[in-house]
Amino acid sequence: MGKKIFSGVQPTGNLHLGNYLGAIKNFVELNNDNKNECIFCVVDLHAITSKQDPKVLRDNIRETVATFLASGIDPQKSIIFNQSTVPAHSEAAWILSCIARMGWINRMTQFKEKAGKDKEKASVGLYSYPILMAADILLYDASHVPVGEDQKQHLELCRDIAQKFNNDFDVKDFLKVPEPLIQKEFSRIMSLKDGTKKMSKSEISDLSRINLTDDKDIIISKIKKAKTDPLSLPSDVKELNERPEAKNLLGIYSSLTNSTLEKTVKDFKGKNFSEFKENLTQVLVEKIDPMSKEIKKLVNDKGFLDKILIEGHKKANDIASIKVKKMHEIVGF
Ligand code: TYM
Repeated sequence: MGKKIFSGVQPTGNLHLGNYLGAIKNFVELNNDNKNECIFCVVDLHAITSKQDPKVLRDNIRETVATFLASGIDPQKSIIFNQSTVPAHSEAAWILSCIARMGWINRMTQFKEKAGKDKEKASVGLYSYPILMAADILLYDASHVPVGEDQKQHLELCRDIAQKFNNDFDVKDFLKVPEPLIQKEFSRIMSLKDGTKKMSKSEISDLSRINLTDDKDIIISKIKKAKTDPLSLPSDVKELNERPEAKNLLGIYSSLTNSTLEKTVKDFKGKNFSEFKENLTQVLVEKIDPMSKEIKKLVNDKGFLDKILIEGHKKANDIASIKVKKMHEIVGF
């Protein structure tokens, strides 16, 4: 039997190699397996948990759709839509926020990281954001949710919320408890400037990441400037534990070439970084440069991208509105 896949990406601009290798690459594989039913959501409600310029947000929503298409997701096979067009997401999020416990949400490490030192000034939405994410998933009875490692805790929370709802209202299996799909390796791509920090769109320095819209010359220059250490490349994977930058770059290479870290280490053992970086740049340019060109072409065709979102909206709304109606009945509305 096929899987019911749901996943989301925030349209906050600068989708990067971490998003691609940690999540979108997996979306494409799941989309290509005809047995699966896939839904990929541009989570614009999540995006406004931090301040967005409305005009830029609108363009970023389209650019995220363009990125999905340029990566190889087929809108004939998968539903692509933006979250704000399906009111059931906000409605279900409210009901589920009355199920989730403060103690559970207080444990979420991503809120602590994103809110930083001044938690009092973070939006309430940023705090309750994982509940909206649970609503996204549970409305579609998703069996599997492909994400990067940073979303693992949010998925555990989603499972807890589903189980508590089912128990509280004595509706066994009404909300399907989803399984996370997190790749064993390379599910956390790190910054090119600091191998101990996650590659992220909110990092100020653009040199810390490869954006999916970067062209060949930018990729060459970013990899040239990527942080390394003074040693040559090791012969044993274990040595990488003490060498975060080397581990990250070798991991990126392995993921792009669909290889294992062991094999990459074996292929480059004893080599210096400059030689390895040439190889890494080559595989990155081969993968990212055509994608970047395609994204730039697609974003000019707003009508085409909007049509995909409208089609996706209809299909997603049909599914989610029925589920949220049942939720209303269950809670006694
Ligand atoms: P977002 O928009 O931050 O990231 C989108 C996807 O990219 C993955 N990712 C990474 N993977 C590996 N290395 C990295 N450095 C890296 N950075 C990001 C993320 O894990 C994610 O899979 N809350 C989610 C969006 C969301 C969602 C959902 C996901 C909303 N509702 C329902 C799944 C199901 C988020 O902010 O992802």
